[in-house]
Amino acid sequence: MDKNFSFYLLIALIAIMIITSHSSVIFRRKINDNALDFLTPERIKETSIFKHKHKGINKNDKRNVISRNIVVPPVLSKVSPENNYPIGRLLIRLHNGNYGFCTASVINTENGNIGITSAHCLIDANGEEYDINFMRFSPGYDNGTNGPLGIIKVEDVAIPFMFRLTNYWNDYALVKFAFNKENKTLQHYTGGLGWRFDVGNNTLTNIFGYPFTGNLENCIKDGVHLCEWEGYTQVEQKNLSIHYVISGSIHLGKGVSGGPLIFQYDRAINLGYVYSVFMARNNVTNESIAPIFNGKLFNVLLSLLS
Ligand SMILES: *[C@@H]1O[C@H](CO)[C@@H](O)[C@H](O)[C@H]1NC(C)=O
Ligand SMILES: *[C@@H]1O[C@H](CO)[C@@H](O)[C@H](O)[C@H]1NC(C)=O
Ligand SMILES: *[C@@H]1O[C@H](CO)[C@@H](O)[C@H](O)[C@H]1NC(C)=O
Ligand SMILES: *[C@@H]1O[C@H](CO)[C@@H](O)[C@H](O)[C@H]1NC(C)=O
Ligand SMILES: *[C@@H]1O[C@H](CO)[C@@H](O)[C@H](O)[C@H]1NC(C)=O
Ligand SMILES: *[C@@H]1O[C@H](CO)[C@@H](O)[C@H](O)[C@H]1NC(C)=O
Repeated sequence: MDKNFSFYLLIALIAIMIITSHSSVIFRRKINDNALDFLTPERIKETSIFKHKHKGINKNDKRNVISRNIVVPPVLSKVSPENNYPIGRLLIRLHNGNYGFCTASVINTENGNIGITSAHCLIDANGEEYDINFMRFSPGYDNGTNGPLGIIKVEDVAIPFMFRLTNYWNDYALVKFAFNKENKTLQHYTGGLGWRFDVGNNTLTNIFGYPFTGNLENCIKDGVHLCEWEGYTQVEQKNLSIHYVISGSIHLGKGVSGGPLIFQYDRAINLGYVYSVFMARNNVTNESIAPIFNGKLFNVLLSLLS
């Protein structure tokens, strides 16, 4: 197992139950209700952007992106009554009192209040969980401004046991948001990404996040702007380790941890199928890596929050 990687945020409950694994379709928000009428966007007050705990990121990596990377125009999250905005910024209070952030997104579930991010955004390298009472999510966050729903609290998290043990395997986690507006779920307003377990090699992918380092093009890398990468991911097996990887010199950046790898992203509706979340960049091979979801585990995590 290759330990030479740096997490992009500075930083299992494996129940014995067999759940048929299934993937999920996307969920389009209803566009005819007045979802946007009730909240005024507000800036998140940050005491500080977190410090670089892992010092392994090579800041001198200024080579051009390789041809597999498709340069996309700058994105502003599409927050309008016609669009879904499942992706947002997740603010986390670290154990040193500073705040860090990751990227998270609402996924399509029956519960309606469930999102996905990286496990390493929710617990530290010693397996100690960050306090969910200090986590805040703002779907549609961009340009330093919260999305239409403001900031949303976190009610519960489900983190794979294997990640707690290894700080490496199964680096994804589900988050349940404390949300109820007019008796409707978060997903009702934001839409929800579908999810898939069957995404193979060389897949055209869109990744979104809020980087404040890295070399994404057309991206204001200040941690408060939503940026996008589009290109192909590979499945890579190295000894015991199997992951999705993006090879070459692309460096998505800190803050993109937890950002969804989206299959069949449809720009018109701002939805697609999440099949992984960005984990880390290996500072030796320069590969960006993302875990391969285990369908049974995913469904167990889901059942723990439902
Ligand atoms: C890679 O990261 C590791 C641990 O984060 C660090 O010890 C090492 O010096 C880094 N190597 C390079 C080439 O940056
Ligand atoms: C981004 O935020 C700045 C400062 O708040 C504001 O002046 C600007 O109009 C915003 N840009 C967009 C595209 O919303
Ligand atoms: C929400 O549901 C509760 C219980 O069913 C009901 O009492 C309440 O009136 C509903 N509120 C709205 C805004 O619909
Ligand atoms: C995925 O495709 C790449 C070439 O595009 C290849 O090198 C790699 O071995 C493939 N991975 C798997 C698991 O087949
Ligand atoms: C695979 O394992 C061998 C033996 O442990 C090691 O020498 C090699 O570097 C590993 N390969 C990779 C790509 O990690
Ligand atoms: C990774 O990037 C660094 C800095 O750009 C470069 O020196 C190094 O050769 C690259 N490593 C690989 C395996 O491509």
